[in-house]
Parts: sequence; structure tokens; C-alpha cells
Amino acid sequence: MQTIPILVYGSGGFGREVAWLAEECSVGQTRYPVCAFVDDDDSTHGVDVNEIPVMGWDAATRAFPDARMIAAVGSPQVRAGIVARSAWATSRLVHPSVLHSRFVEIGEGTVICARTVLTTNIVLGRHVQINLSCTIGHDVVMGDYSTLAPGAHISGWVHMGARVYVGTGAVILPGTPGAPLVIGDDAVIGAGAVVRASVEPGTTMVGVPAKPTRAR
Ligand SMILES: CC(C)(COP(=O)(O)OP(=O)(O)OC[C@H]1O[C@@H](n2cnc3c(N)ncnc32)[C@H](O)[C@@H]1OP(=O)(O)O)[C@@H](O)C(=O)NCCC(=O)NCCS
Repeated sequence: MQTIPILVYGSGGFGREVAWLAEECSVGQTRYPVCAFVDDDDSTHGVDVNEIPVMGWDAATRAFPDARMIAAVGSPQVRAGIVARSAWATSRLVHPSVLHSRFVEIGEGTVICARTVLTTNIVLGRHVQINLSCTIGHDVVMGDYSTLAPGAHISGWVHMGARVYVGTGAVILPGTPGAPLVIGDDAVIGAGAVVRASVEPGTTMVGVPAKPTRAR
């Protein structure tokens, strides 16, 4: 039996969901006990949230130097900042209900929530976050720190850069074998959007079909 103690950074809504995910991943030969939530907000320290203590960064470093830290924050940019200042190692957490072929690479620190399906020839970078019930088709690349909110659907031949955020229920239509649909670094896709063509870095796209917010 292997035990991997987990610190969940962030005691808010998604933090509590990641604590549940860690519990759900504790099947077979590996256990992921959550030793604490780490939170920068002093007013949260010293209380328990869902029976897990909340503590500050310094106290958690002293108490659990060997734990693995999961940054449970939806914003890719905030998550990247947290990981950059952390000395903790990290861990992948993949819910046992997730379906994927053996041709899926999953980077360190990446979290995949329940009921997601990933098919084949997919590369997920480091600290990617895939929320509940997403689908990811063949030949997709997701760059480091990218986020899919619940129910996002990514078709085949889509290449996402780093720190891309895709909102709840958004749909990315397919690219082609020689010309993947490319979503540039730091782009944001609004909830419910349908993206039909490549997206420039840093652009926010909303609506059906998706258009840049400034152009509306
Ligand atoms: C796209 C998004 C990031 C834009 O946020 P924002 O930069 O604060 O933009 P604003 O709210 O100022 O909206 C800008 C314009 O886009 C429109 N808009 C915003 N989000 C939209 C959406 N999802 N679909 C369609 N239009 C949208 C607004 O109505 C507004 O239009 P207007 O200029 O004609 O008035 C945000 O609305 C969104 O969809 N976030 C995803 C949230 C999510 O999925 N969370 C999951 C949590 S688990």
C-alpha cells in the first residue's frame, strides 16, 4: 500500500471538490489522504472545513514538508503563480470514473474530475485542470495550466496553448490533420461558446459562433 499525503491549495468551492476527488482516488493500492487545506486568507486558519484543517503556507510547510500540493484554483494564471512559489512536489489526481485510452499523456500536477472521457493520442501538460464531465477527442494538446470548466467539449485536432481557460459547456469544433485548430496562450473561451476557428493568444471569445468580446 502506498500513501501519498495531499495538501489542497484553496479551501473554497473547488478546493473542497478536489479534497473529495482525492478521497475518490484512494482506491486500489494508493491512498491520497488530505492533510490540510492551504489558504492565504488568515481568517480561514485554525478551523476545519469538511473535517480538514485550514492553515497558512508557512505552517503547512513546517507540518507537511513531504506532502504533494494540488493548486485547486480555476484561474490558470493564479494557479501558475501558486506553483511557481511552491517548494512542494505535486501529484496527478485522476478520478476512477475517467475513461481514456493508453495513448493519453497526463502531466504532473494535472487533475481530472469525474465522468470525463479522453479518447486517444492526447497530450495534457503540467497542472492542467479538467472539471466534471468533459470530453476530449483524438489528437488534442492542452498546454500547461490550461483549464476546462464542467461539460466542456474539445473535438479532435485541437491544440491549446498554455494557460487557456475554457468555460462551462463550451464547444471547440475540430481542426484537420494538417491544420489543427489552435487556441493561443492565455485565451479565454466563455461559457457556452462554440469556437469554429483558431483563436489568437490572450483573446476572450463568447457566443455562438464565438467572437472576440471587444468586437461585439
Ligand atoms: C467570458 C467571460 C470570461 C467574460 O467575462 P468578463 O471579461 O468579465 O466579461 P463581461 O462579463 O464584462 O462581458 C463582456 C461581454 O461579453 C458578454 N458575455 C460574457 N460572457 C458571455 C458568455 N459566456 N456567453 C455570451 N456572452 C457573454 C457580456 O454579455 C458582455 O457583452 P456586452 O459587451 O454586449 O455587454 C465570462 O463571462 C465567462 O463565460 N466565464 C466562464 C465562467 C465559467 O464557466 N465558470 C465555471 C466555474 S466552475
